[in-house]
Amino acid sequence: MKTFCIQTELRPEKSEIFCGRGVFESAEISAAFVFTDTNMLSLYEKKIKKKFPKKPIFAMDAGEEHKTPETLFALLREMAKAGLHRKDTLVCIGGGVVGDIGGLASALYMRGIDCVQIPTTLLAQVDSSVGGKTAVDFGGIKNLVGAFKMPSRVFVDSEFLGTLPERELRCGLGEIVKHSALSGVLFDRLIANRARLFDLEFLGGIVPDNIAVKTAFVQNDPYETGLRKFLNVGHTTGHAFELSGGGLSHGEYVLLGLLYEIEIAKKYLKCDEAYLRVLHNLAVKVLGTVPKTDPVAAAELARLDKKNAKNDSIALAVPTAKGKFELLELPFTQYKRELKKLGDSIC
Ligand SMILES: NC(=O)c1ccc[n+]([C@@H]2O[C@H](COP(=O)([O-])OP(=O)(O)OC[C@H]3O[C@@H](n4cnc5c(N)ncnc54)[C@H](O)[C@@H]3O)[C@@H](O)[C@H]2O)c1
Ligand SMILES: [Zn+2]
Repeated sequence: MKTFCIQTELRPEKSEIFCGRGVFESAEISAAFVFTDTNMLSLYEKKIKKKFPKKPIFAMDAGEEHKTPETLFALLREMAKAGLHRKDTLVCIGGGVVGDIGGLASALYMRGIDCVQIPTTLLAQVDSSVGGKTAVDFGGIKNLVGAFKMPSRVFVDSEFLGTLPERELRCGLGEIVKHSALSGVLFDRLIANRARLFDLEFLGGIVPDNIAVKTAFVQNDPYETGLRKFLNVGHTTGHAFELSGGGLSHGEYVLLGLLYEIEIAKKYLKCDEAYLRVLHNLAVKVLGTVPKTDPVAAAELARLDKKNAKNDSIALAVPTAKGKFELLELPFTQYKRELKKLGDSIC
């Protein structure tokens, strides 16, 4: 079993992450209340009830459209009804939506109670369960209301990946390819195994490497004032395409964003072009086919990005060589022109 520990001076509480096949059943996890979603409950009710006998369970309706203040307050209401105390633990079992809402509820309830995360999607295992960002969507804006709240423990069990549809695997792979743009070691592993990127055994095996990449960035910058911004590789442009619609998953938009940002990096920065070509091909391999999109509409939406757009310019975290990356700031009009120009060649 691999374990990680995040502890920062700013945020003195520890967050321990345990990874391994079967860790959900074998680890000792105490819970006062279990939060999950309806899909997870229909697939794993027996397993959850066996692990946490007689504990109250609240299952939200599955899906991003339910990542709302209403669901958050429904959960808080159930926690209060169950009489949870300050020393009790909320256990969240599910994908990033359950993790984000449950994490926020644990930050708010009695000004903060213990939270344990059991991520069950590939995306949640490699990304959202690590690092303590929690949120709900509000007023049509994703993750507008949230808090930093580290889970005390995270149990990452690859057995859960067995029931994920391919679409959810591709979504998680989007974040894995993003991590490989930040880590030469992970990049080499993906390239060496490019024939079995969707193989569950391979994916389960690289989850800890991804957590190692993410924890390194979080550990050094828990509140995203500097280094953690590089975890946004592919995201500024990807998120803009996501807002402009088209029905892809978040991870697929990240890959699409990465394709555009690689080309922009090549134009404005000194880059290892051979490496970027291989990274491009890796992203295309995971995406399958590159979807048709409207880059001009997306560029306008990138302007609304709360993290990366200011003073009429756009900040992009871009890969430049294996394991190397830079922050590139472009005036908005120039960024829009680049997206428009690239539109025809990328699709
Ligand atoms: N906090 C962070 O740092 C962070 C980082 C990245 C993403 N996120 C958030 O994560 C969310 C996306 O997470 P997600 O992709 O896990 O979505 P999700 O939680 O909606 O899960 C995707 C689907 O898979 C189902 N599911 C979950 N586990 C399953 C399993 N083992 N087998 C079968 N089905 C399963 C869910 O019910 C859901 O229908 C977004 O809201 C995003 O904002 C947060
Ligand atoms: Zn992401």
